[in-house]
Amino acid sequence: IDINNLRSVTGGITTLDPGFKNTSSCESAITFLDGEKGILRYRGYSIEELAEKSDFLEVAYLLIFGELPTTSQKLQFHKDIKKTALVDEDVKKILDGFPRSAHPMGVLSALTSALTAFNPTSVNVSSEQDMYRAVCKILGKFPVLVAWAYRKEEGLPLAYGDNSLGYVENFIKMMFELPNEEYKMNPIVVNALDKLLILHADHEQNCSTSTVRVVGSSHAGLFASISAGISALWGPLHGGANQAVIEMLEAIKADGGDYQKYIAKAKDKDDPFRLMGFGHRVYKNFDPRANIIKVAAEEVLNDLGVDDPVLDIARGLAQEALSDDYFKSRNLYPNVDFYSGIIYRALGIPVPMFTAMFALGRLPGWIAQWKEMRLRKEPISRPRQLYTGAPLRAFVEESKR
Ligand code: ACO
Repeated sequence: IDINNLRSVTGGITTLDPGFKNTSSCESAITFLDGEKGILRYRGYSIEELAEKSDFLEVAYLLIFGELPTTSQKLQFHKDIKKTALVDEDVKKILDGFPRSAHPMGVLSALTSALTAFNPTSVNVSSEQDMYRAVCKILGKFPVLVAWAYRKEEGLPLAYGDNSLGYVENFIKMMFELPNEEYKMNPIVVNALDKLLILHADHEQNCSTSTVRVVGSSHAGLFASISAGISALWGPLHGGANQAVIEMLEAIKADGGDYQKYIAKAKDKDDPFRLMGFGHRVYKNFDPRANIIKVAAEEVLNDLGVDDPVLDIARGLAQEALSDDYFKSRNLYPNVDFYSGIIYRALGIPVPMFTAMFALGRLPGWIAQWKEMRLRKEPISRPRQLYTGAPLRAFVEESKR
């Protein structure tokens, strides 16, 4: 039976899979993930090799266009992105309307959606050239918005980048440059951030990526779809976990470092507390990104000479939980976000910005998935449901309710 007609052919049979735990929503040639074996590959290349040998812009090209770029393709791509790296000055007025206490993810989602209004030709993409232009625009403008969200929160004047720099260097400068001070680029910071962004760049049909595809399937434009993806990423069960991890580790530190107490809380079924940064819907053995990032976190802290007691708590907590039957029997391992926050902190990025950094990393994946969905002419996403409400009943007049 053709699954498209299952309901009509069988007189109503449908699949019910809350959370889509075992439902594929599409075919995709972008990212391969084997949760049992802990394998992650972008377009066939292992994440370990990409993290070691590639850079973020190259990985973005690979995800979006399917192949690693030649030198000239890479230069042209970067040039086309740089051309678009200004944001309409009126966007600053929207940013002005937010209080400084606004969460950067809320700001980012709103500003990304607002980009649609300032770039109306990016909405109705009908050719691959239109798509290419929209893709370059969002890759150029998004780092500006992330940096602005940060600078707003810090009360710093908004800055534009320096087009003579690489993609990641430029972003770092936009974030951290202070007025009247020459910014000195630290290669350790560039390298660590490059690696983190690569590790986050795509992860097949996760919550935010599925959101981007679902929203895009109605032919809403790329920027609107990405804005919806940002909102989905914000939640603590998804991208917001990196913020939640550091907040949890800080709370343990303030509580005298007693991580056993928190492990016990996480195991207590009457307590809603979960160990943040533990467990994953797909990885049931280990998260290959966590292995890479754990090593990177140790390196960055050593290289920058940062002595962070929170890392000691993270180490102790992970070791203890990994040998605990509760976590072992449920295949709960540290995920990528267990360690990413430690690096962000060492780089001087404030905690509320962590998920925005994740969004910057995930941007190429969202774009690649949106583009694939559009090029494959996928139908509009429209799941069905099993209705469990009241049967037909007569309307009750207000006086008789
Ligand atoms: N701490 C304690 N127990 C947990 C945890 C945790 N972090 N994660 C799962 N469990 C338990 C559940 O209580 C459940 O136990 P039960 O079988 O006794 O009822 C069992 O493990 C299975 O958990 P589910 O919630 O069914 O697993 P699901 O695949 O739906 O959820 C998720 C995955 C959301 C990642 C979950 O593990 C979680 O909440 N983790 C903490 C948040 C987190 O780190 N999120 C980041 C994910 S990675 C990312 O988005 C980049």
